[in-house]
Amino acid sequence: MVKLESLLEARNRHISQALSIAHGTPLHIVRGEMQYLHASDGTRYLDLVNNVSHVGHCNPLVVEAGQRQMSLLNTNSRYVYSGLTEYLSRLSGTLPGELSVGFMVNSGSEANELAVRLARAHSGNHDMVVIEGAYHGHTGMLIDLSPYKFRGPGGKGESEPWVHVIPIPDAYRRPDSDFNKDLREGISEAGPVAGLLIESMLSCAGQVPLPRGYLDEAASAVRGAGGLLIADEVQVGFGRVGSHMWAFQESGAVPDIVVMGKPIGNGHPMAAVFTTPEIASSFGGMEFFSTFGGNPVSCAIGMAVMDVIERDGLMKRASELGLRFRYGLESLKESHELIGDVRGRGLFLGIEMVRDRGTLEPASQEASTVVDSMRERGVLLSTDGPLHNVIKIKPPMVLSEEDVDETLSKLGLCLSGF
Ligand SMILES: Cc1ncc(COP(=O)(O)O)c(C=O)c1O
Repeated sequence: MVKLESLLEARNRHISQALSIAHGTPLHIVRGEMQYLHASDGTRYLDLVNNVSHVGHCNPLVVEAGQRQMSLLNTNSRYVYSGLTEYLSRLSGTLPGELSVGFMVNSGSEANELAVRLARAHSGNHDMVVIEGAYHGHTGMLIDLSPYKFRGPGGKGESEPWVHVIPIPDAYRRPDSDFNKDLREGISEAGPVAGLLIESMLSCAGQVPLPRGYLDEAASAVRGAGGLLIADEVQVGFGRVGSHMWAFQESGAVPDIVVMGKPIGNGHPMAAVFTTPEIASSFGGMEFFSTFGGNPVSCAIGMAVMDVIERDGLMKRASELGLRFRYGLESLKESHELIGDVRGRGLFLGIEMVRDRGTLEPASQEASTVVDSMRERGVLLSTDGPLHNVIKIKPPMVLSEEDVDETLSKLGLCLSGF
């Protein structure tokens, strides 16, 4: 087997330092198996962060669907084949009726980029509104629309004049704030806008569920400013929140555009944008084409992902396992002062660590130490949030009750070290 040292040496030669390695000391992973990753030294890790491998690493049904289609036909969406229309119709069946037209692309970034183009073409406006701490993708436009990036290391610090940033509606850190007022004022100060690009539950901003009524207010405020509501479901979609297929469905709001990515292909590079027929026809005759988007292999894989979600009742499992995690984490919070807040829905959870429950001083170093010692115990986690003090849990949805219980007991041991 190739040695880790020689792989790292080759990485340093051929891969930009701009790409960091996950989980501190490099992990040499050689195989994925549902909720587990196997390292070259034989260690099996429980993967609690990979929300891409939604129905499990190398899920046999998905692998088989891709292999079968690859040996039969792979072409592009200028040809007519049943896989594409069946798949789009299946996805649109999970959405409110008016969101009936889908575009298939290859990554969440491409999908968000297309969503913003659609919003601009449809509204005739240019400016966009986003939420503080958000990440929406790596293209030039999306870096400008991602405060997580432009305010982070290497970023310009300031937003572009066409980008308007609204504070995070964080009920833990700002319990007395009027978040709807922030929204209304932020959008009205922005003037005419093309849209609000917002995750239906905030991920990079610290695993923050939106307060009740927030998305409804957002929809009416942004439409009042001439723009569209774009729901970025790249991290939180496909049933992860348990109660619904799409996290925006927790609210009464129906977005004008919904963006899907990451879990959609269980690791196969694909993404989608759904919108109304009227908005979809906004390009004024300019053609849309993506060479790989919606190819027959992607559609077969996407269909298999949907089959597994339904066949294995994974939304219900997300609710059950999420609750089990929540109860366990709440009880750890009672005995460990470091845990300031436990939040989330289904299998999209955050544990906010603080040094002082009064001042909410972030325990960023401690959070990172817990993540490192969980890795030593065979569990992969990571931190997020503007203060880097939120441990996130967003695993493949095929966990078992034993995985949850083991994680909780290991977390208890790690927290006892403080
Ligand atoms: C919320 C959100 N939107 C969009 C993206 C971009 O997706 P991709 O990396 O597939 O381009 C990401 C990626 O992390 C994301 O978390």
